[in-house]
Amino acid sequence: MVNAIERIQSGIKGFDSFIEGGFPEGSITLVVGTPGTGKSIFVAEVLYSNALQGKRCLYLNLEQSEGKLEKQISQFGWDLAKAGKNLRIVSVDFPNPGMVEFVLDEVQRLNYDLIAIDSLDSISSSPLETDEIGKMGMDRIAETVIPTLFDAQTVGRLKLKKIFAAISKSKATAFLTTEKIEGAQGITRDTISEFLCDNILVMYYLGIGSSQYRSAQVLKMRLSNHEKDFIPFEITKKGIELR
Ligand SMILES: Nc1ncnc2c1ncn2[C@@H]1O[C@H](COP(=O)(O)OP(=O)(O)O)[C@@H](O)[C@H]1O
Ligand SMILES: [Mg+2]
Repeated sequence: MVNAIERIQSGIKGFDSFIEGGFPEGSITLVVGTPGTGKSIFVAEVLYSNALQGKRCLYLNLEQSEGKLEKQISQFGWDLAKAGKNLRIVSVDFPNPGMVEFVLDEVQRLNYDLIAIDSLDSISSSPLETDEIGKMGMDRIAETVIPTLFDAQTVGRLKLKKIFAAISKSKATAFLTTEKIEGAQGITRDTISEFLCDNILVMYYLGIGSSQYRSAQVLKMRLSNHEKDFIPFEITKKGIELR
């Protein structure tokens, strides 16, 4: 018999049948798409519904200002009070020099079952401050500061590697969003997270006149015979609904 792997259900009606019942437990999913494709809503829905099932969830909102995500959630009629302590939402909406340490602290704070980071771009592009450098050991200075002299993107990648390592260690099932620039080549801006993740979900949006077409596509999912085709969906007043 094949070893059954535990899966985390998305909580989005009909979606899990495309991914063999859910996201492999402990896997890291990158949710990629241009602005407005529904990344934040998708991830919020997965965490909210899992919190209702008793899973401990952390949503690190590094993009929208405090209260905005909560407003979007309540607009869909999802009741944050019902999720209670199971859904912790932490918002930081300014470029934070201590961003990496902050995120690492939050990730390690509890034994979370699910972790969302929205978005990774806020981390890879966060600035580095001199007092941060002062607190580092020589090895970290060598690894983090010296490359800056040559290439800011290298530093961004190092930050992401740390975040991925901490998430893997925590064993949580994670959802990390990253913004795709319209027309840009490659999957991610940082060009590394696509190799560090286990699963890639791409979100598309096409508006023609008054018609709106949204779809999601699983580009990769480890351990899964997943749907390869586009999965059409809508964002309705209740959240994400498959068409
Ligand atoms: N109540 C709603 N009804 C229908 N569509 C909505 C509603 N709320 C938000 N949306 C759609 O969701 C989009 C934002 O989704 P979001 O997940 O924030 O995008 P992303 O995180 O990919 O930038 C909006 O641009 C809008 O098209
Ligand atoms: Mg978003």
